Amino acid sequence: MTGTKERLLELLEKNRGQYISGEEAAKQLDISRTAVWKAVNSLRKEGYEICAVPNKGYSLSSGTDILSVQGIRRYLRPAAAGLQLEVLQEVDSTNNRLREQAAAGALEGTVIVAGRQTAGKGRLGRKFYSPEGTGVYLSLLLRPETWPPERAVGITTIAAVAGCEAIEALGGRDVQIKWVNDIFMDGRKVSGILTEASMGLENGHLEYAVVGIGFNVYPPEGGFPPELKDIAGAVFPEQKSDGKNRLAAEFLNRFMDYYGHGDGKNYVEKYRERSLVIGKEILVLKRDGSRKAKALDVDQDCHLLVEYEDGTREKLSSGEISVRVARTDQ
Ligand code: BTN
Repeated sequence: MTGTKERLLELLEKNRGQYISGEEAAKQLDISRTAVWKAVNSLRKEGYEICAVPNKGYSLSSGTDILSVQGIRRYLRPAAAGLQLEVLQEVDSTNNRLREQAAAGALEGTVIVAGRQTAGKGRLGRKFYSPEGTGVYLSLLLRPETWPPERAVGITTIAAVAGCEAIEALGGRDVQIKWVNDIFMDGRKVSGILTEASMGLENGHLEYAVVGIGFNVYPPEGGFPPELKDIAGAVFPEQKSDGKNRLAAEFLNRFMDYYGHGDGKNYVEKYRERSLVIGKEILVLKRDGSRKAKALDVDQDCHLLVEYEDGTREKLSSGEISVRVARTDQ
């Protein structure tokens, strides 16, 4: 059930940057003015900057940058308006939490967003650094029951394109994709995607897929840890007005748009156009070692076509393989 505080936040979000009188808020929420005042105080304790001016009322400062369901919802367009959002301050991993919910029957379109992850996961068993306050960590549950399993990689592809476009919608520039799941700006990884799927035993189709994306929205306080400082970057150098809610919403808008109209062609072409690897010398890293190759293309099923030094070619699927762009060692 939605409480008074949440309903007031929704109202303030709708009128962000403008004043709404205590009386008007009380009327719209069907509560007393004292209840409005109490809810304002609890929101302030959570960090919301709410100005109160006599004869004008309350106004949520346009600079406030706190993730919330109401804050994200405000920017959702029709394709994403039906999503079920939950925002958590902290979680081990939004993917883990959502997979638990998926196994318990949660519906397609369930979304968990967190402000911090204590055990954020990356591909190939890696960790995803997910500090408090400077990132957006988001997972979305899909049940593309008619999709054959090999189309699952398409979900990562859509997320990569949607992630790039979301960043650009907020003013980011030159956003590129490093096959298969990393988003780069200025030679640094600013976002990563992890799609985890479960197959139905009987028909071999996708039972569900959880697509998780993490954005380093701002530089973490004190900088990235030593092992990441040469690789990782932030989307924006400094705080942007309501940046985190907007980025989450812009991602969801675009993802749902592509997912809803997906015969694949539209987003695969966009993925290719943003590729950081096509035409480059790369290192293909497999379990049994690494080989130099040239990345030739990404095909319709999002395989990476490479040519090794001896002239042999291979189509790589994302499974157990990573690539590094040879010269920049990323
Ligand atoms: C990678 O860089 O290899 C992928 C990183 C994916 C990180 C996101 S953050 C939200 C979701 N929850 C996780 O634990 N991981 C994904």
